[in-house]
Amino acid sequence: MSAYSPVVEEGLERMLAMVRGDFDLSWMDSNPTGWGHRVQPGASGLGLRDVDTGAYGVVPEYGSSHGSMAPRGCFVPADTPSLGMYDLNEKATVWSDNAAMLYDEAVTRQWNSVTDVPWHKLQKLPDDIEKAVCQMCTNFTEVEFVAGDMPAKWLCHINHDFHEVKLFLATQIMDEARHMDVFRKRALANGGGLLMASPGNEALLAAILQAPNYTTASALMHIFGEGFILTLFRAGEFLAPTEVEKTIFRLCMQDEARHVAYGVKHLQYFVARHPEMMEEIHHILGLGEEAIFRLTLEPQTLEPRAILAGKGVENIQLGMTRLAFLYNKQITEYLQRLKIAGIDRLPRMKIPAELPALGPEV
Ligand SMILES: [Fe+2]
Ligand SMILES: [Fe+2]
Repeated sequence: MSAYSPVVEEGLERMLAMVRGDFDLSWMDSNPTGWGHRVQPGASGLGLRDVDTGAYGVVPEYGSSHGSMAPRGCFVPADTPSLGMYDLNEKATVWSDNAAMLYDEAVTRQWNSVTDVPWHKLQKLPDDIEKAVCQMCTNFTEVEFVAGDMPAKWLCHINHDFHEVKLFLATQIMDEARHMDVFRKRALANGGGLLMASPGNEALLAAILQAPNYTTASALMHIFGEGFILTLFRAGEFLAPTEVEKTIFRLCMQDEARHVAYGVKHLQYFVARHPEMMEEIHHILGLGEEAIFRLTLEPQTLEPRAILAGKGVENIQLGMTRLAFLYNKQITEYLQRLKIAGIDRLPRMKIPAELPALGPEV
């Protein structure tokens, strides 16, 4: 009796047959329409869009029904088993016309927190400033990776025919890993440490992770959450006491710009095809708006930023005034992004479009 299972026995027999010259070779002619494909690298190399041309570039409105990981454009044998997990099969539910371009940009602009931040330029800071930086970094370390967990949660549902989106989301997960890592590193690097977590932020994170479908999760995270962060990072100069923090904000900002750009174009693509979902999108944006406003009640979120914006605890009120300007900018850009996506949010917004002047203009 053989020591091997029937499938191994069969494999051994097949190999012996091959040694005797009995080959199949039918795979060579399995995909005649996909054969003869050539590509031309563009000025900046061979991007996804350069390679997915002709029939390979046709993205179906509904992904293949075989449910496997077979790549778009190949021949799929009839007995290919379904993996039974891909249920986001409609292109509109995940698609964004800029996903391939953003993926190419992401992979060519990767940076790292080990060598790209001038850590040697860290210097001893006044206690209030170091504590404010550390608290702000504790806050960022807590929230950054929701933008990794959210795409990770949905990735294994997305039909493989939409690989441009899957590849882009994979880069976003890596981007967010870097963000979590770099803010934690900064908190631990200069004589301070991590300070207080934010229960208020957890409500927003929960709304993102528990959103009932991918598009509402994306609207809340890519446009609302990351949009607010992007505007904040753009204003990072005034929250950054040294070149170290300035560099961190600048590096993170370029990543966040991609995440927001995907979110805006996805929402635009989606609502043009599913106007009936508009109410659900408004609803989740409302949840986000209220959640973020609740953060103003948390001293550990707002006060450190006010100290940094005012350049010291003695100027914390001046810092508040500056933060009010930042808030107004965040809302303006948020509304603008939604407008591009085809959503008029202003009449439905649950928080003020503008904060009253909180002090003397600065
Ligand atoms: Fe991030
Ligand atoms: Fe992000």
